[in-house]
Amino acid sequence: MSHSPPTDQPTHARVWEELQCATQDREHEWRTPVLATTGADGSVQARTVVLRRADGEAQALTFYTDSRSPKVAQLRAAPSASLVFWSRRLNWQLRVQAAFSVQVSGPQVDAAWLAVSTSATAAADYLGAGAPGARLSDGCVAAGDRHHLAILTARVQSMDWLELSADGHRRGRLSASGVDWLVP
Ligand SMILES: Cc1cc2nc3c(=O)[nH]c(=O)nc-3n(C[C@H](O)[C@H](O)[C@H](O)COP(=O)(O)O)c2cc1C
Repeated sequence: MSHSPPTDQPTHARVWEELQCATQDREHEWRTPVLATTGADGSVQARTVVLRRADGEAQALTFYTDSRSPKVAQLRAAPSASLVFWSRRLNWQLRVQAAFSVQVSGPQVDAAWLAVSTSATAAADYLGAGAPGARLSDGCVAAGDRHHLAILTARVQSMDWLELSADGHRRGRLSASGVDWLVP
């Protein structure tokens, strides 16, 4: 991999701007990062999730999930997890290490449910009678009347940014105080 000294440094703020855009622009490739958690047996468990909110000031990223999904139990047991974002348009990969917390009730969950429930399809994701991953043969197709929406909040601890370029790849550890340049 070739690499060159950094010139037009993408700032921490610029990366947060892109994350913020991804919460609004359905076409933004950073809208659907991969979340990797640690399973109960120590294995890595990775899956795609939708980025719902990006708050640069609080250094926090928000996701919605079903409170019964295995990732919720995994994050409760091992809150430290990783997110990987890739954008072909930007040619940017962003690897985020974060500490996660789970909310299953309270005003923020109520507000999120209110927003989600305006779409019947989206609401159905959180109304299933069976937990995500449960066997269909166990008879859990019908929707229940209680939602299971949970909010996952990721407090960002570190960000590793990689830009692919024909002129030389660049990689930096980003923080509010600047960029610590690394060999790509
Ligand atoms: C494009 C895409 C977006 C997804 N978004 C979410 C999401 O926002 N929240 C979620 O819980 N699962 C989402 N999923 C489903 C997860 O990838 C996963 O299959 C499911 O949550 C079960 O994961 P778990 O068994 O590891 O908990 C999405 C899948 C795809 C393909």
